[in-house]
Amino acid sequence: MSLDAPSIALVGAGAMGGALVRGWIEAVRRGGGLTLTVVEPNFDPTLERELDSVGAVINPPDAGPVDIVVLAVKPQTFPSVVESVKRFIGPETLVMSVMAGVPMETLTREFGAQRVIRCVPNTPARIGRGVTAYVASPACTAEDRQLVEQLLEPLGTVEPIAAERLMDVVTAVSGSGPAYVFLLAEVLAAAAEQEGLDKDTAMRLASRTVAGAGALMLETGEPPGTLRKQVTSPGGTTEAALDILGAGNGLGPLLRHAVSAAAARSRQLGKG
Ligand SMILES: NC(=O)c1ccc[n+]([C@@H]2O[C@H](COP(=O)([O-])OP(=O)(O)OC[C@H]3O[C@@H](n4cnc5c(N)ncnc54)[C@H](OP(=O)(O)O)[C@@H]3O)[C@@H](O)[C@H]2O)c1
Repeated sequence: MSLDAPSIALVGAGAMGGALVRGWIEAVRRGGGLTLTVVEPNFDPTLERELDSVGAVINPPDAGPVDIVVLAVKPQTFPSVVESVKRFIGPETLVMSVMAGVPMETLTREFGAQRVIRCVPNTPARIGRGVTAYVASPACTAEDRQLVEQLLEPLGTVEPIAAERLMDVVTAVSGSGPAYVFLLAEVLAAAAEQEGLDKDTAMRLASRTVAGAGALMLETGEPPGTLRKQVTSPGGTTEAALDILGAGNGLGPLLRHAVSAAAARSRQLGKG
């Protein structure tokens, strides 16, 4: 992608905001332009130099309303930045947030903006391999969605979601999901240790297996069920394990229960 010279105010440039900026720098390198105001106490000077080197305009003096405000501070920091962000918001400004659990209604209320976008990225976004789901308020135009999808592209794939009420389950699946996968690597390593492998070897085997299986799924585009069947010979070792994992009290019901708990917690936090 290239960027069609939007003006952006980025509020918070830590892990997520920084990953976005790195992607925008590459986009500007390919063409177009960018005017970027960064509100962040410790903005990485390397990123600032790179922005400069690709010809982006950084922190223009007296920046007023911009095309899009991107909120990437921690949710608990959000109340303290609201007032200072208002100067970037005019009648045409789109407001986009990657903050976990902050509903669109809060963004509309605080900024008086009708065109708001709420995104749920996940941690692999830090290396451009995440999946970011977003929901747009009804006032958003097709151009708004296109711009937001372009801006989110550096984080990985982008998934539009039809209704905000579904963002709780999105949070429970892709937002929190990397933690479930890391836990899988941890418990697989622990099981390997119990079966006699040393700790380090167990962890290397387990984590490489999880990473390799994920990469295989991504690169072949095959559904996980197909890939699973490919490693499951009738009467073999994998089948012996899957008989346990797939049992009535196995992984399926356990994950349904876990996702349901995460979605319920997300709904609760959203109300707070
Ligand atoms: N990381 C993830 O995988 C992930 C996944 C889903 C959603 N999110 C959401 O993305 C948002 C950002 O997360 P993150 O992981 O990028 O957090 P982060 O690395 O802590 O980044 C937040 C940045 O905001 C800065 N900041 C603090 N106070 C500020 C202020 N008053 N004005 C402007 N900037 C301020 C922080 O600076 P200091 O460090 O100097 O305080 C930090 O650089 C969060 O709302 C989170 O819910 C993150």
